[in-house]
Amino acid sequence: MNQTAVDKLAEDILLLLREPQGSIVPLGELAAKCMVSLLEINGGLARLGEWGYEFNITTTDACLMAIPDVLTETEISYGLNTNSIGNRILAYRRVGSTNDLAAERANEGADNGTVIIAEEQTKGRGRLGRHWYSAPSSGAYLSILLRPPFTPDRAPGVSLLTGLALIECLQSYCPGAVQIKWPNDVYINGKKVAGILTELSAESDNIHHLVVGMGININQTDSDFPTEISHLATSVSIACGREINRIELVRTFLQKFETEYESFCTDGLTGCIDRLRRYSYLNGRQVTLVSGNRTIEGKAVGIGPDGALLVEKDGETMAITCGEVTVTNH
Ligand code: BTN
Repeated sequence: MNQTAVDKLAEDILLLLREPQGSIVPLGELAAKCMVSLLEINGGLARLGEWGYEFNITTTDACLMAIPDVLTETEISYGLNTNSIGNRILAYRRVGSTNDLAAERANEGADNGTVIIAEEQTKGRGRLGRHWYSAPSSGAYLSILLRPPFTPDRAPGVSLLTGLALIECLQSYCPGAVQIKWPNDVYINGKKVAGILTELSAESDNIHHLVVGMGININQTDSDFPTEISHLATSVSIACGREINRIELVRTFLQKFETEYESFCTDGLTGCIDRLRRYSYLNGRQVTLVSGNRTIEGKAVGIGPDGALLVEKDGETMAITCGEVTVTNH
């Protein structure tokens, strides 16, 4: 059997061992169902061992004991109940940037909903050309390729709905502590836990594709962050005080993302806006907003029906549709 055939056999064995989880399966049954010899079953089990799966194996049976927390296609797809998001998952150990890979796959014709995910990024990018620190095996760095049915002017709404999907995913880990710092940052207890970088390829009235990238700090400890950002950054694990199963978190996020995205495609931000307002970190704070060559100082007073940030200055309320916000009083 060549490497690829052993990998495929290992995946087949895995599916048989996890249904139901913890069941003891005779090796002969595995061999019969996979239509291979017992020797080949041993090879498949050994491959799963190399991937980090743990078993109880006797001379006659095998039982799956532990699943590694590695962001593989097999694990993320398992039990993922979506229509299109994650129908194809390309999972890597180490890449430059998942957003760059997603754009390349898009240009090669990859489908709407393709997810690119990596354990580590060497050239992770943030907004405004910043670096996104992407330490190995502790966070999730992923990009979703979309081929939206709407025009480019509606694309900024996708960043907002992504933030909302992330917040509602993270709320199940840290209830009440998660907020959005308009438009793209997700905060827990006042520190950044995730960032979103949406990149558009479009003509004037037609989107070729949209790549929505997000970096989520999941199991980092305080000392994992470089000193220059450690006072600003947090992780889900730091906030909850326990180790988080990254696979489950990513799966939950993809499901929530699809729900919000489908609703956005039909109804725009209507279904999102009240929740975005509720989770807004900026509400009532004094902010400085830089948008192009304009700098505005004022008080953030809300979010408009189109997702714009409402800033009050000298008794007048302005709706700001894009920009970088700094909080000037905490
Ligand atoms: C920000 O807060 O500035 C946005 C950060 C976005 C980081 C993610 S990690 C996955 C994807 N690939 C990248 O290179 N960037 C985004």
